[in-house]
Amino acid sequence: MNKIRLAVVGATGLVGRTVLKVLEEKNLPIDEYVFFASSNSAGKKLNFMNKEYIVCELNEQSFDSGFNYAIFSAGGSTSKKYAPIAASKGCIVVDNSSAFRMDENVPLVVPEVNSEEIKNNQGIIANPNCSTIQAVVALKPLDDKYNIKRIVYSTYQAVSGAGRNGVLDLENGIKDYNQHESYIDSICNKNDTTTSTYELSKFNYPIFSNCLPHIDVFLENGYTKEEEKMINETRKILKKPDLRITATTVRVPVFNSHSEAINIEFENDFDMDELINTLSNAPGIILEDNLLKNPQDVTNPMYPLAINASGKNEVFVGRIRRDYSVKSGINIWIVADNIRKGAATNAVQIVEKML
Ligand code: A2P
Repeated sequence: MNKIRLAVVGATGLVGRTVLKVLEEKNLPIDEYVFFASSNSAGKKLNFMNKEYIVCELNEQSFDSGFNYAIFSAGGSTSKKYAPIAASKGCIVVDNSSAFRMDENVPLVVPEVNSEEIKNNQGIIANPNCSTIQAVVALKPLDDKYNIKRIVYSTYQAVSGAGRNGVLDLENGIKDYNQHESYIDSICNKNDTTTSTYELSKFNYPIFSNCLPHIDVFLENGYTKEEEKMINETRKILKKPDLRITATTVRVPVFNSHSEAINIEFENDFDMDELINTLSNAPGIILEDNLLKNPQDVTNPMYPLAINASGKNEVFVGRIRRDYSVKSGINIWIVADNIRKGAATNAVQIVEKML
């Protein structure tokens, strides 16, 4: 019997390392793993499943030896160049970058939502944007039942989504803060707290003690590319090309896990208990909400938190409440580990489905 071989491209990065962790946890029926990165990491050692692996440099011949699957997490330009090469050699690529997501020949897959799309692949399957993945896990069961008419996204995104340098900017901001005697004094005295003495590696402005309404590049229409990705990818995954969606995506000083406030308007009326049941029975969702009946009686309110979602594979949903400003609508709060469910876990789940 032929051996099943999986390549991980970008194995030394934030997402790549998490891919390895999720693969270890899942222990899929894969016979051989090969790990690729850039020339900077070639020869480095990686520990995986209690074995030592040497990182290989990715090049145009890397896929000649025959792979069944590859998970790419090495950025858009690496994917654009090497994913088609891998696919041409019979390997099915699950790509974490945005390079192929809107290509009509490339399925955009979240296994809980549209795993049936996997079979339509022509060698490349795209992993959606992290913010889109966690949103559609909750939106799909609601759309199936109540027919979504409009979505308003507001995101609170962790620095880990901006890679190693994003994390570094927050870390350096905290170190800088620790040198201040007291922020309370500076607020009361209206001292300037915005100037930083450290160099920023990723963001235009300090992320510590700040919120940046700017993720990815700005487009001609004033939106950011992150906002556009959420809008277009949601439409593609829900198969509703004309769905009315708007988004504001914001980077916040949180290390890991994205939070999202989502306002959803439905065509159909709904019963709140039934809607909650629908969400709690949906795959991949954990409901965290003890405020549904008598919120004022609750002494320890429970709602999804970034620090609790970190390291988990599920999508956490809470703060479910009716939007009284429209005929049929709700507001919800959704949190998930953007490096796991938003990237690594979702990619491994796609491979798992194919296996
Ligand atoms: P390396 O560690 O050798 O630079 P992150 O998003 O956390 O910065 O990780 C990016 C990942 O993509 C790393 O594993 C990085 O490898 C890898 N990578 C970047 N450029 C290339 C390339 N041209 N070929 C292969 N891997 C690359």
